[in-house]
Amino acid sequence: MGETAAPASLLPVDALPRGLPLRELGKLTNESKTLGLFRATLTAAPLRAELVAGHATEFWTYNGSLPGPLIEVFEGDTIEITFVNRLKQPSSIHWHGLPVPPEQDGNPQNPVPPGGKRVYRFTLPDGCAGTYWYHPHPHTYTAEQAFRGLAGLFIVRARQDPLNGIPERLLVTSDLKLDQQGKIPADDADDWMNGREGQFVLVNAQHMPVVRFDTGGRERWRIWNACSARYLRLTLPGIGFALVGTDGGLIEHPIAGLQEFLVVPAQRAELIVDAGTHRDRVDLTAAVYPRGKMGEVAPDKALSLLTVDFSPVRSTIQPPLPLQLCSIADLGPVKAHKRVVFTEQMSMKDGRHQMSFLVNGKTYDMKRVDLTSRRNEVELWEIVNQADMDHPFHLHGTQFQVVEREIHGVVTPEPFRAWHDTVNLKSGETVRIKAVQRWRGLRMFHCHILEHEGLGMMGQLKVV
Ligand code: C2O
Ligand code: CU
Repeated sequence: MGETAAPASLLPVDALPRGLPLRELGKLTNESKTLGLFRATLTAAPLRAELVAGHATEFWTYNGSLPGPLIEVFEGDTIEITFVNRLKQPSSIHWHGLPVPPEQDGNPQNPVPPGGKRVYRFTLPDGCAGTYWYHPHPHTYTAEQAFRGLAGLFIVRARQDPLNGIPERLLVTSDLKLDQQGKIPADDADDWMNGREGQFVLVNAQHMPVVRFDTGGRERWRIWNACSARYLRLTLPGIGFALVGTDGGLIEHPIAGLQEFLVVPAQRAELIVDAGTHRDRVDLTAAVYPRGKMGEVAPDKALSLLTVDFSPVRSTIQPPLPLQLCSIADLGPVKAHKRVVFTEQMSMKDGRHQMSFLVNGKTYDMKRVDLTSRRNEVELWEIVNQADMDHPFHLHGTQFQVVEREIHGVVTPEPFRAWHDTVNLKSGETVRIKAVQRWRGLRMFHCHILEHEGLGMMGQLKVV
């Protein structure tokens, strides 16, 4: 565990201008000439930038790009990534949400030491088109490596996409905490307890950028919440949008007329935004979402993430969206049951309060198997949050289907079928999901508030 830092004196929010002198969202170039093979290198290394005049801010990046360069491939492609670790800590690359074999998934058991390298190789099955990401997953270092900049985008495209032709916009959010000297401070006690939120939320590594909407009046937004802990209750005040995709790709039918959509840490969403008659500027805003933070933290405020300038729009009328985007079959009859319980525990250490975050009463142990599943068996997982705080649950190795949610004795069946790898649990809520694991080996399941994961809110699933 990193040491707990004293609360830093932070740079005032208005000291950082809009935009940032950081690199534009880069794309990873395929170095292979073979059809269906994507081969490239990702190097994790420090990068210095001057955000505060006269001071250097040290980020940790993949290939000097913040966020990490986009990997864009097709279903069926084979991916071969050489990972070079130029950090002073062990690291790994976890392919968040992608169906890859356990030994290629950057598990905490297989870290790449400082100065080391390894090749990750996997083939993407058909039907996995969607919006994914990659980030480090070494035991206890994940939170720090992610908040210093190590997180990159991964899009798997289908040969046939019913939304083809709609211009896409990629929006990845991350938190940035900066002190007066432009340094990124280590986590303090509040960060460890609530998960870290900075005073800045960056979108594509820019501070409150202005984006110009497409002239055609309609865009498809792929949104990643790569923040360690921040909940994004997204709104575009005065403008509704349609949900068309979740963590694991398209949903069956567009859900139009949404005024807000909650994207919790690690989740992704695909939205269709229509300008309609708007020609003004509207802020994409994260509305207040009370997630049960503890301690003496300042109350949350609504936060502008970026400004959309609708003035370039030339067209008012948009054709209707396709009624059906894909079909998602129910995973089928349940063969086995799993139960996961999240709890928090307060203890005293050196005269100070300390929180433990537990899964089934325990903190993470790399040598322990917590649950066992059989390959190709449909399981019903009951995930129970007995803690006072919301926690986003993430399962490695597969996308799952949410069946129902239960809170205060009221059961609500999930209103639509979708693929997820991360699902939020409100305090006191139980969520039931159906999942199937396709490979033998070890998988993680954990809270995706990265500080909680680092404190051990994680378990191991052995698939036999
Ligand atoms: Cu996004 Cu186990 O991680
Ligand atoms: Cu948590």
